[in-house]
Amino acid sequence: MSARITWYGHSAFQVDTDGVTLLIDPFISHNPLAQVHADDLRADFILLTHAHGDHLGDTVPIAKRTGAMVIGSAEVEGWMNKHGVQNTHGQNTGGAYGFPFGIVKFVKAEHSSSFPDGAYAGQANGIVLTLKGKRLYFAGDTALFSDMRLIGDMRIDLAVLPIGDNYTMGIDDSLHAIRLIRPQSVFPCHYNTFPVIQADVANWARRVNAETEAKAIVLDPGSSFVVE
Ligand code: NI
Ligand code: MN
Repeated sequence: MSARITWYGHSAFQVDTDGVTLLIDPFISHNPLAQVHADDLRADFILLTHAHGDHLGDTVPIAKRTGAMVIGSAEVEGWMNKHGVQNTHGQNTGGAYGFPFGIVKFVKAEHSSSFPDGAYAGQANGIVLTLKGKRLYFAGDTALFSDMRLIGDMRIDLAVLPIGDNYTMGIDDSLHAIRLIRPQSVFPCHYNTFPVIQADVANWARRVNAETEAKAIVLDPGSSFVVE
């Protein structure tokens, strides 16, 4: 079973697998890189790594319109329920749960998390998605941390890592992360959205291909690729 990944810029992704559409961190309306309208997106599930505005994004209106289940931290679940989204599932760091499309495991991320209104949102997380035959790691916003090696022990087919620096790890640390995670391929995110997170992605890709065992995949926002 293959998975089609579409990048909407920043950390917003769509994963289509086995007839199910997942949105991850759907920051669309205020995302200068997004070339779609939040109103046009369909979703069966919305997965949130954390609740910062550039990840929470359009979750509430998309969930209300589509009825998609929102999967996030237990604190994210509580906040969603208070804001009119009842179809939710809460998890916490280290916990895995099986859904019809596969298994969602929340893993450690070194980052903070709160809602745009200041409400506490629990831990920031990374997400390991085990689909039928493929394992994808969306690191979310995070610093480099040595326990990425343990995530790598899960055998990751595709790792999605932030490279924009300032709020997350930058290029040098992402290369170190790739050597710990040992994925087949790696996709960069959380860069060039704002002036403070500009990154030379061509240079990143050259270095990934030269200095690690992983294959770099670089696309323009709005483009898709298939993990098979
Ligand atoms: Ni953040
Ligand atoms: Mn962010």
